[in-house]
Amino acid sequence: MLVLGINALFHDPSAALVVDGRTVAAAEEERFSRRKHGKRPVPFSAWELPEQAAAWCLADAGVEPSDLDAVAYSFDPALARPADEMGLHDPWDHLRRTYAWAAPQFLATALPGLDPAAVRFVRHHVAHAASAGLAAPDRTSSVLVLDGRGEATSHLAGRYVDGRLEMLAGQALPHSLGLLYEDVTQHLGFLRSSDEYKVMAMASYGRPRFLDELREAVRTTGDGGFRTDPVDWGRLAKPLAPGEQWEADHADLAASVQVRLEEVLLELAGWLYEQTGDRTLTLAGGVALNCVANTRIFAESPFEQVWVQPAAGDAGTALGAALHVARTGGEDPEPMPGADLGRGWSDERIEAELRRAQVRYDRPADIAAEVAECLARNGIVAWFQGRSEYGPRALGHRSLLAHPGFQQNLERLNDVKGREQFRPVAPMVLAGRAGEIFGRGPVPSPYMLFVHDVDPGWRERIPAVVHVDGTARIQTVDPGQEPLVATMLERFEGLTGLPVVVNTSLNTAGRPMVDSPVDALECFGSAPVDLLAIGPFAVRRCPGGHA
Ligand SMILES: [Fe+2]
Repeated sequence: MLVLGINALFHDPSAALVVDGRTVAAAEEERFSRRKHGKRPVPFSAWELPEQAAAWCLADAGVEPSDLDAVAYSFDPALARPADEMGLHDPWDHLRRTYAWAAPQFLATALPGLDPAAVRFVRHHVAHAASAGLAAPDRTSSVLVLDGRGEATSHLAGRYVDGRLEMLAGQALPHSLGLLYEDVTQHLGFLRSSDEYKVMAMASYGRPRFLDELREAVRTTGDGGFRTDPVDWGRLAKPLAPGEQWEADHADLAASVQVRLEEVLLELAGWLYEQTGDRTLTLAGGVALNCVANTRIFAESPFEQVWVQPAAGDAGTALGAALHVARTGGEDPEPMPGADLGRGWSDERIEAELRRAQVRYDRPADIAAEVAECLARNGIVAWFQGRSEYGPRALGHRSLLAHPGFQQNLERLNDVKGREQFRPVAPMVLAGRAGEIFGRGPVPSPYMLFVHDVDPGWRERIPAVVHVDGTARIQTVDPGQEPLVATMLERFEGLTGLPVVVNTSLNTAGRPMVDSPVDALECFGSAPVDLLAIGPFAVRRCPGGHA
């Protein structure tokens, strides 16, 4: 059975292809269109489809639109209600329903040959749930979807038993943990539905001084749901304009919201465990990208294992919707094989692009050793290998790498990327060595969705990746899954004694992550990067780097 998944309605348009229950391709539209997040998250853009991502998924698998058994669209307009009935204030929200009803015709236009009758609407939070419960390694798990909003709800608590979803609770709008976090994001001068992770980073600088106010406004209801009453943010900290300098009050507000979110999520996870007694909890929805909260759920909830969908935001609903429709069509979906589900390029294609650009390049005998040497000399490396990542994190396929032993590399990378200086950069570490360096969070942690405490004995050795609160958001690298990245880390350890490298996403300010060789060359050309390691090839800016 051939099922194409489509996420288009709210944020981060994306497409995914599931063939006979196997996830073969998934990608976000932004990587093709080069427009961050693909589109604005507003009602009047709800018609926009992930046309290029969908066309690529099909072409990559040699599938024609007319071959598809189903197209799974991750929103069901039949479940939506007028915004004012749901307590939301959005005069244009009706456009979302209008465009969703028209999506089958729009899709048939975007993918000529597609039968509009093949389009299936999938409840938004069922799509999120399936992206966790059906994509995770365990066949039976409890699932929590923690989101901004779906058709008429903001969350789902349930359970997958042998691939079948049993829904146990769902919180009706306007109560929404995701929308609450978006509100405070906007109040702090950041872009809502985009910059929530900046609030999480800022929280580390503050004290949760407003926790009492937050505990009053945001609370669980004992039935698997919760309340989020409106908060007068301005009374706690004055609103910030974009780019305006923040002060202690703002960090304290961020810390208060963050801690209250963690407390509420722990209560929701505790309630779910009481219903199911499962060993594993799976998570999806935009709030599940909050790796600080995920770690508290892992460390403090009764669940033994926590698995988070790497594309936990709306991008992941393309995959979830496709897995759900495959499952209801009688398939038995396989767990997703990894997050590297996007475009990949043959050595020949890469070399053709290097020739076309007329840059000097060479083909070292061992690209991993070449990169390790450049990093050991404190150079910065753009690393372009294999298929691109599905979801917001660079996981060793489209990464910017640096030496973790120099404190100033945090500032240097934030400068390269045009990021705020309060934001941390993260380490990748050999899976077998993670336990001695990083504590509290789960190991392995291949998708960078948890934070770990850095062992005090290691903080001085890898200062660039230690956040102000002594934590790091690690990616563990398994040599079986990621042989080239693991070899690079081993070579780097051989030269420096450190099995850790700084890893941040390969992009510059305001741009989506690099996806194609041309994107990589454009990024390399405009940023102070010493070496571009693209497939087996090396493109150098200044031989020797910053020795
Ligand atoms: Fe969502």
